[in-house]
Amino acid sequence: MSKKMTITSIKKSKGVTPLVVITAYDALFAKLMEPSSDMILVGDSLNMSFAGKSDTLSATLEQMIYHTNAVAQGAKNSFLICDMPFGTYISKEKALENAIKVFQESPADAIKIEGGADKADIIKFLCSNGIAVCGHIGLLPQAVRSEGGYKVKGKTETERLQLIEDAKAVEAAGAFCMVIEGVKAEVAREVAKSVEIPVIGIGAGKDVDGQVLVFSDMLGLFEEFTPKFVKKYMDGASLVKSALSSYSDEVKAKEFPQEIHTY
Ligand code: KIV
Repeated sequence: MSKKMTITSIKKSKGVTPLVVITAYDALFAKLMEPSSDMILVGDSLNMSFAGKSDTLSATLEQMIYHTNAVAQGAKNSFLICDMPFGTYISKEKALENAIKVFQESPADAIKIEGGADKADIIKFLCSNGIAVCGHIGLLPQAVRSEGGYKVKGKTETERLQLIEDAKAVEAAGAFCMVIEGVKAEVAREVAKSVEIPVIGIGAGKDVDGQVLVFSDMLGLFEEFTPKFVKKYMDGASLVKSALSSYSDEVKAKEFPQEIHTY
C-alpha cells in the first residue's frame, strides 16, 4: 500500500512528479481509484454525474459531507479534498463555519473553494484557522449561470494577467495547491511557473503540476456531453449497457440463474 500523501509531500511534488487526482463520490469507486491516484477529490460535480442535475449549483454541504464519508470508507489511505458547494463560502465567517462542519463530520484532509484574488481573504482566514485549502482558478463551474456558460479562460491579455494574479493571491493566502480549469495551455503553463505550490490542471494542457479528471467522464460513464479535454479511458456506458442487456436477456430466457448460482 502506498503512503498517504500529506500537505508537505503534495507541495514537495512540484517539479518532481505530476500529481494524479480523480474525483470519487462513493466507496466502491474510491476503492478502485486509490491505487492509481495521489489525491481523491469529492467534487461538487457529483451534483451532475451522481445526482443528475444540469450544473453543480444545487449541491449542498450535507451532500458533500455524506459523499466524503462514503469515499473515505473505500479509500482509507487517500488524501481527500472535499469541494465546498456554491453559497457555502460567501463570507469569511460562513466559510469557516462550514469548513469546520466538513472537518468535524468527515475525515476530509482539505477543502476546495472556487475563486482567485477575490477569495484570497477567505482562504487566508480558513488557513489561519486550521483548514487546509485547495484553490480553484480559471473556469469556475459555480459561475456557470452568472457567466452564461462554461467559458475557457486565458484567451486575452487581461485574462492572462488576471490568472497569474489569482494564482499568486491564492498561494499567498496559504493554499497548499490549486486546480486550474479550462485555461489555454500556454497560459496555464505560465501560471504554474509563477507559483511554488502545485497547480493541478483540468482542461489546462500538460505543462502544469498534475491532472484531475471527473471519474465518470474518464471512464465514459457520463453520456450527456464530453468536454474537449476529457479522454475516455474506457467506454463505460457501452460496457455497462451491454452487461445489463445480457442479464435482461438471460433472465427472460431463463438462462440465469444456472446451477452454479443456485443453493
Ligand atoms: O467538482 C469537481 O469535480 C471539480 C473538478 C472539475 C476539478 O471541481
